[in-house]
Amino acid sequence: MPHLNRRRLLGASVAMGLIGKAASAADRAAQDLASPDRADDAKALAPRVRRLFDFDWRFHLGHAADENRDFGFGRDQKTFAKQGQGVALPAAADFDDSGWTQVDLPHDWAVGLPFARNDFFTLPSNPEDGDPTAGHGYKAIGRRFPENSIGWYRKVFTLEPGDDRRRLSLEFEGVFRDAYIILNNYILTRHESGYTSFSVDITDFVNADGPNVLLVRADASLGEGWFYEGAGIYRHVWLVKTDPVHVPQWGVWARGEVSGSVRLDIETRNDADADAQIIVTSRLFDAAGHIAAEVASPVSLAAHSQATVTQAAQIAKPHLWSLDDPHLYTVRTELSRDGQLIDAVVTRFGLRDMRFDAQKGFFLNGQWLKIRGTNNHQDHAGVGVALTDTLHRWRVSQLKAMGANAWRCSHNPPAPALLDACDELGVLVIDETRMMTSTPEGLDQLAALIRRDRNHPSIMLWSIGNEETAQQGTERGLKIAQDMRRVVKTLDPTRPVTAAMNHHAGYGITPALDVMGFNYHEQDIEPFRKLYPDMPIIGTETASAVSTRGEYVRDDVKGYVRAYDLDAPSYAKTAEAWWSFYNARPYLSGGLVWTGFDYRGEPTPFNRWPEISSHFGILDTCGFPKDIYWYYKSWWQDEPVLHVLPHWNWAGKEGQTIPVWVYTNLDSVELFVNGKSLGRKPCAKDSHIAWDAVYQPGEIVAYGYRGDKVVQKARRQTAGAAARLSLSCDHDVLRADGQDVALIRVEALDGKDIPAPTASDLIRFAVNGPGDIVGVGNGDPTSLEADKASERRLFNGLAQVIIRTRKDQAGELRLAASMKGQRFSLHLRCI
Ligand code: GAL
Repeated sequence: MPHLNRRRLLGASVAMGLIGKAASAADRAAQDLASPDRADDAKALAPRVRRLFDFDWRFHLGHAADENRDFGFGRDQKTFAKQGQGVALPAAADFDDSGWTQVDLPHDWAVGLPFARNDFFTLPSNPEDGDPTAGHGYKAIGRRFPENSIGWYRKVFTLEPGDDRRRLSLEFEGVFRDAYIILNNYILTRHESGYTSFSVDITDFVNADGPNVLLVRADASLGEGWFYEGAGIYRHVWLVKTDPVHVPQWGVWARGEVSGSVRLDIETRNDADADAQIIVTSRLFDAAGHIAAEVASPVSLAAHSQATVTQAAQIAKPHLWSLDDPHLYTVRTELSRDGQLIDAVVTRFGLRDMRFDAQKGFFLNGQWLKIRGTNNHQDHAGVGVALTDTLHRWRVSQLKAMGANAWRCSHNPPAPALLDACDELGVLVIDETRMMTSTPEGLDQLAALIRRDRNHPSIMLWSIGNEETAQQGTERGLKIAQDMRRVVKTLDPTRPVTAAMNHHAGYGITPALDVMGFNYHEQDIEPFRKLYPDMPIIGTETASAVSTRGEYVRDDVKGYVRAYDLDAPSYAKTAEAWWSFYNARPYLSGGLVWTGFDYRGEPTPFNRWPEISSHFGILDTCGFPKDIYWYYKSWWQDEPVLHVLPHWNWAGKEGQTIPVWVYTNLDSVELFVNGKSLGRKPCAKDSHIAWDAVYQPGEIVAYGYRGDKVVQKARRQTAGAAARLSLSCDHDVLRADGQDVALIRVEALDGKDIPAPTASDLIRFAVNGPGDIVGVGNGDPTSLEADKASERRLFNGLAQVIIRTRKDQAGELRLAASMKGQRFSLHLRCI
């Protein structure tokens, strides 16, 4: 089925008049289908309002060690002394924030900070163990940099007539981290986790008639992970207005089965002083907007109480969710009182069946499939962790196009947009909590993850932890894991629990798991199977092979590793070694590569300054494919693939031997170097072909055969110096919503339009029209150039510039890129 986006569905269902029942319900449902949980239109969920609160914020750095430079926060130990006064200077309505920076969310202030080697730490005695501060990507943030570690956000807003009779809340999808939410001088909550979503009821604290001053103080002094984590309000914020009688956040859980039977658990809440008799009506729609089922139940809600109603619905011709046809149903839940609609929420779900089998692997809707996935952190060139929805979707689709069918949210709850993308594109997900602990905070984080995410059909496993070395093999660890398991099973008995273990599989926490997650250590798999013959296995992490895009010779000084599939740390394996191992064993349900994309921090194998990002990715930090992308593509999907490496620009190496590799799923390949055949070789399953070629400038050409027929040709030509730029973007019409981004690929070509694979020229960018450059990158793991800039050097011929549209500003947008005094341009349209 071609992908129908929700806006197009809106048009389709209205135009075709497909929803037979009451016209108003049909209209509303169609509107909601257009955008169930991302609606920024107050009418979309009428009478509920869910408004995107991402725009018109002001931002300023505070100071973690100096209350005067932290806007008086914490002054004289009086922070909590009296309510509604004196929390911090910017809480005052007349505070002058004109000197603060204007920002729109999502926003990551860490990515704009300078790089700094935090060499105050004691370096390891063995220099080969690397620099302990490399993990977070060397940004000048953390306890050592108190002046950079507190972020203040300020937004002034007014309400609408009638809002004083409504329940009002703010929903934060993610703030890194330790966020104080302060409204009109009241501290409403402190939310520590940098990854879980949360909601704050603001009803009692608003000024119905006057300005409201919202402050968010985020403190990124401490970290939660061992990778780059960003800082600030890096996901969406929503203002939600409901009737006092309403469905609370994450209050609808739709559990669909392949038979078409759907169980709905709907939480309802009465925050009013009077009891309420209401009708809860659920209307189910298929992806085309046809009504698929309807069910209604009366509910009595005493004043200030909450009740869950369970409904059963039956879809007559169930259309299953699958990887090729990720069909999504929508349920619109309406609360009405005395015939009046008082609340509506829209929830998406899917009908699918997932099963792990210890002997046979994984089954989706009864069909066997091998899980072929990647792990990923939320991090991208230019923008850090502040990924807009478009960017999340783009990243998922790059990997889907490679043939990947799974994504592990390592090692934290993801942005909702990531899960939406996986639902819509047909990608399986391992959803993982950040902290493996049974403290109230740990269990709350896990519960928030499950309550928020359990409707997503893409989620196949809940992961309660990753490589918890101090606890994964212990009795204490088991107690903790069992407590976590109980939370999972209470909130979602339908999905299995896993944890990613790198040691002690079969011991410690194992009894708390349904599916064993192996991180590397394939030699431990058979011993584990003897202990637990009935526990299915997934490779939660595989590979950790390292390569640098476009580099073919290891360079210890620059910190580059070869892009041939040859290098992996001692615990890890090359792509070919892990995949051929997993693919040959049907009882292994599959594996997820560490990682899909390079990310900041963890610059293995060098682990030292100035390596600011990892080399594990199949794609670099910009999403430019490394050669290994075609290895996976050739074995993970069915279309013919023929890719030859390396480039053929080896000035100074004339007469020397260069290994030439081909990744292909064709039967055999003949390689020609400067017109001379080096022979035709067959390609073994899950493998690659290699020749030794003597370098002379010219070209290498690979002819790919199916049987005796040439079906594809690939070549690399020696290029001259970069002479011009090719600018391209996967879509040239952007939404003028202030959220859409264009990822522009900047590629150097020589005078004959041959890609210049080693070009490193400086490119200067300028945008004309309704858009802004929000970041630049080039995938170089050693580049200390700024991400927030309007210039960037090419790295091995490529750079990326990210342009974000402006809200409600349509028009022509022109990107100019100059190199060596010449200008090149790209036109985009914002509508
Ligand atoms: C694993 C860990 C990942 C990452 C990876 C690098 O042990 O779970 O987060 O650090 O190693 O190889």
